[in-house]
Amino acid sequence: MSTLVLPFEEIKLTDTERCGGKAAGLGELTRAGIRVPGGFCVTGDALTRVIEVNGLKQKIAAIAATLNFEDYLGVEERTGQIRALIAAATIPGDLDQEIRTRYTHLVTKAQRYVAVRSSVAVKHSPVSSFPGMMDTYHYVVGEDQVLEKVRECWSSLWTARAAFARFRQKLAHQDGVIAPIVQLMVDSYSAGVFFSANPITKNLGEMVIESNWGLGESVVSGKSMNDFFALDKATLAIKQKRIVEKTVMVTMDDSGAGRAEKHVPPDRAHVPSISDKEAVEIGTVGKRIEKHFGFNVDVEWAFQDKILYILQTRKIRGLEETPHAQAPAKTSAVTPPRAPKKAPAKKSAPGKKKAAKKSAKKKAVKKTTAVKTTSKKKKK
Ligand SMILES: Nc1ncnc2c1ncn2[C@@H]1O[C@H](COP(=O)(O)OP(=O)(O)OP(=O)(O)O)[C@@H](O)[C@H]1O
Ligand SMILES: [Mg+2]
Repeated sequence: MSTLVLPFEEIKLTDTERCGGKAAGLGELTRAGIRVPGGFCVTGDALTRVIEVNGLKQKIAAIAATLNFEDYLGVEERTGQIRALIAAATIPGDLDQEIRTRYTHLVTKAQRYVAVRSSVAVKHSPVSSFPGMMDTYHYVVGEDQVLEKVRECWSSLWTARAAFARFRQKLAHQDGVIAPIVQLMVDSYSAGVFFSANPITKNLGEMVIESNWGLGESVVSGKSMNDFFALDKATLAIKQKRIVEKTVMVTMDDSGAGRAEKHVPPDRAHVPSISDKEAVEIGTVGKRIEKHFGFNVDVEWAFQDKILYILQTRKIRGLEETPHAQAPAKTSAVTPPRAPKKAPAKKSAPGKKKAAKKSAKKKAVKKTTAVKTTSKKKKK
């Protein structure tokens, strides 16, 4: 096997630049003995190789050089040309075979489904995520489908919104790394996010959980109303619990592959999506993860058959901005504002940064009141 495709067991946090932040985090968790569904990463070098063997490097660079971020439609059109080049590229036989082999070894008759997830980094930069910007595919089944979704993940490096994000952050397009992850699906009855410190109040002594029925996709996309728990970090005592009316959830599509948004059946709408015991279990594992990494973490988790799986971890940013010790412990929900999965409107490009920041903050506050947001995340 080459080093272009790596199982989680062989990935460390220091591999962020070639495996992306998500895969590096999952590898690190796996090696630390945290229960992470098995999987592998098609490293960033794999796409570099595809681009090389298809002679696309200069072609992509030439198109990228013409992007004018004052012209949204133009960016959409030109990045579309790059996506088309990647979509039509030939995957070298050995790489194609390696992905197929890893996939067939990963799945079993009982666990046929995988998620194909994007994991990103930027060379020569500490940036290792573009929250909510890239694509993730759930309940993927079959070698050909996996290959197709890996290819779609590669292409998502060149969505207009990803190009705008690099532009806004002054990152060179050629430094963008995408390393798709193929991971066993957790067919979760409930899932959500956990923060080892409250990112809104910056209270380091309070851990928070947001949870909904089905896949955590509904929670991270901001589409659902979520149950909210605040836990005392020292004692794990539940300080606050807010069970809301849950109306939307994401589960497997009735066709038997892919995901679908569904109504929460009325008899489950007001029922807590996790028990107190499960909340404490999340808190316990979350604290362990924080201790391992040595910083406050934002964790994605899911329960299947009463077993807790960890799906992602990353550093909570911005906690340093306000001293927490004196901050009053507010009691709001906290899922951070994920970028809407569409390119920014033309107006929000350069010069409007401050306004965009302000509106993101406003949105975050809106979410804290557990009001259903109108995130326009693309259905995939
Ligand atoms: N293997 C999996 N099994 C079950 N659910 C999964 C799996 N992988 C991801 N999910 C769910 O799908 C959600 C979205 O996936 P993912 O983390 O890949 O993308 P994102 O959160 O939208 O963006 P990003 O993490 O890149 O900022 C996760 O929060 C998690 O709830
Ligand atoms: Mg995620």
